[in-house]
Amino acid sequence: MRLILLGAPGAGKGTQAAFITEKFGIPQISTGDMLRAAVKAGTPLGLQAKAVMDAGQLVSDDIIIGLVKERITQPDCAGGFLFDGFPRTIPQADALKDADVPLDYVVEIDVPFEHILERATGRRQHPGSGRTYHVRFNPPKVEGLDDVTGEPLIHRDDDKEETVKKRLEVYDAQTRPLVDYYSQWAAQEPAKAPKYRKVSGVGSVDEITQRVFDALAS
Ligand code: AP5
Ligand code: ZN
Repeated sequence: MRLILLGAPGAGKGTQAAFITEKFGIPQISTGDMLRAAVKAGTPLGLQAKAVMDAGQLVSDDIIIGLVKERITQPDCAGGFLFDGFPRTIPQADALKDADVPLDYVVEIDVPFEHILERATGRRQHPGSGRTYHVRFNPPKVEGLDDVTGEPLIHRDDDKEETVKKRLEVYDAQTRPLVDYYSQWAAQEPAKAPKYRKVSGVGSVDEITQRVFDALAS
């Protein structure tokens, strides 16, 4: 299974990715998690990316395309993978198409903007694994600690209200066009293009997982 999860910041891509990757036994490729790991490790890429991410802007296409191309050649990707947060611009989608990376599905998780701010500002994340919680909607068993490792959870630097608003603007301008890009490609070349499935991301986490699984079986 090779798929793209598409959706606005805070739509629940990372949350649902955990269930999908477990079901299909594939790795999650989250460009956001990869960049946050580079920031934490203090690599040259991390130093460069931090300011861009904290401003709610996108890291350059060349850097991201290079990271992803390198990642998908690793042995654990041979049986498939899930892209979370990639592609995010038309040039990134074109690079994937030009590289002839086969894809089975593009799943769009659709959440109206009015829900997003509350989701992002209440998010807590385990930096080591990317596991995601919400103080109200999906709380950890022990406040502030990861369920699996017991390690502390963090509040992402880009989850401040004004940065989330900026990320939503950037999503509208640069990433939303991918909805048309992939749905039109699916209509024009059904034999070659990935199947396009749109699911509502409003409801409980379990309800949305079921919708995504149904979409991936159709
Ligand atoms: P990235 O990490 O990809 O962030 P994002 O796309 O903005 O998405 P989020 O991680 O904010 O949201 P999500 O959809 O994963 O939601 P989640 O499951 O966490 O990117 C960060 C930055 O890196 C970018 O701004 C950019 O600078 C850079 N970057 C990354 N990729 C790039 C690329 N390809 N090109 C260029 N730059 C790139 O859920 C959110 C919250 O809601 C959680 O608290 C969760 O518990 C809660 N929640 C989930 N589901 C539900 C539900 N059903 N009901 C209630 N709450 C829910
Ligand atoms: Zn995420």
